[in-house]
Amino acid sequence: MVLITIQTIVILLVSSCSPPTMTNPVTGEVDGAKIYKSYCKSCHGPKGDRGLSNAADLSKSSLEENEIRQIILYGTDNGMSAYKSVITEEKEIGALVKHVKSLQQ
Ligand code: HEC
Repeated sequence: MVLITIQTIVILLVSSCSPPTMTNPVTGEVDGAKIYKSYCKSCHGPKGDRGLSNAADLSKSSLEENEIRQIILYGTDNGMSAYKSVITEEKEIGALVKHVKSLQQ
């Protein structure tokens, strides 16, 4: 009985220490909106149109998905930083690109 309790505690500890993930625990899908919220919302705003620090208005942008991906990965010379060392999982980049594309009107 004591052993089972200890095992349970160990399992709980281990699972709560796993690295933060943007993956939905139920569906296993990566949540692009969540990634956007963590890294992009501060300048671009929830709908992409905040424009803080001269951030481009993503709702008025007409970039294709591959162009969005390049900008996220490598940044621009005009204030948009490169995120290739921050968002490293291909699945996360893909989900984020889709979310950014969905902000376009
Ligand atoms: C520090 C503020 C800041 C943050 C944080 C930021 N951006 Fe930007 N972003 C900018 C600025 C400034 C530009 C305009 C750059 C330019 O014109 O060269 C820009 C431009 C862009 C563009 C190009 C839009 C267009 O039509 O030209 C995309 C796409 C973009 N950002 C996506 C993102 C994503 C996705 C994130 C989160 C991973 C993010 N940005 C985080 C400041 C930011």
